[in-house]
Amino acid sequence: MPNTILELSNIFKSFTLGTQQVEIIKGVSFSVNEGDFVILFGPSGCGKSTVLNILLGLEEPTKGEVRFLGKSIYEHDEDGRAQMRKQQVGMVYQQSNWVKSLNVIENVYFPLTLRGMPLELREKMAWEMLEMVDMKQGAYQTPTELSSGQQQRISLARALISDPALIVADEPTGNLDSKASVEIMNLFKEFNKKGKTVIMVTHDLEYLSAATKSINMADGVVIGEYKANDARLKPLIVSKRGKLSVNQKL
Ligand SMILES: Nc1ncnc2c1ncn2[C@@H]1O[C@H](COP(=O)(O)OP(=O)(O)OP(=O)(O)O)[C@@H](O)[C@H]1O
Ligand SMILES: [Mg+2]
Repeated sequence: MPNTILELSNIFKSFTLGTQQVEIIKGVSFSVNEGDFVILFGPSGCGKSTVLNILLGLEEPTKGEVRFLGKSIYEHDEDGRAQMRKQQVGMVYQQSNWVKSLNVIENVYFPLTLRGMPLELREKMAWEMLEMVDMKQGAYQTPTELSSGQQQRISLARALISDPALIVADEPTGNLDSKASVEIMNLFKEFNKKGKTVIMVTHDLEYLSAATKSINMADGVVIGEYKANDARLKPLIVSKRGKLSVNQKL
């Protein structure tokens, strides 16, 4: 039996806009098993980032439960959820947030600095991570001096250095040209092959071929869930950089 590490059960989320309550997420359920590469896709505004924020413990759902590593995460207070993220989750966004006073290698080992790990060990682990993402040459530069693709590789190194149970990525290739996108995706695939569990939002549907599970959202609900090699995904994967139009179902 696969080991389920994350489970969202019947999640609802409303936001208050002016005087109105607007329901953005309307009963989303899915699970992520250890070793999965889950891709969440769907039109802009359908609620993908909101779902990621909810499962990261950043945005409390109006209804429903998120279980991560056997615990219901919203039973913890905000500090408890922040600890959970620090220890068990690596995050990669479209645009990286760097500690501006730190160079590349210092940023990569920053999660370990927060844990109070001795400098020598932190440095050793950061060099290993930089090697894996082929960025040793940039170690002493300022992250923002590097290209977007190089910055994403460093982001991935930083996300992985603390050996988290889950990598969460929101459009990690959204800012990249196609060559850099492919390089980043290859790294994600490589780390997933080595056993890392990934959940990623992307608009680049050609990458659905990397997913063990693809989840199609539209207008706050899941409209389709597909295993790897599902024939229904084929037309999307072959259409390079395919994009679904609003509310289109596969
Ligand atoms: N804090 C908030 N307050 C009010 N509305 C919000 C808030 N966060 C998100 N929304 C709304 O929820 C909807 C879904 O947003 P979300 O960012 O989750 O979409 P998305 O699928 O990630 O889109 P994209 O592909 O463009 O990133 C949008 O209409 C957005 O305006
Ligand atoms: Mg988004």
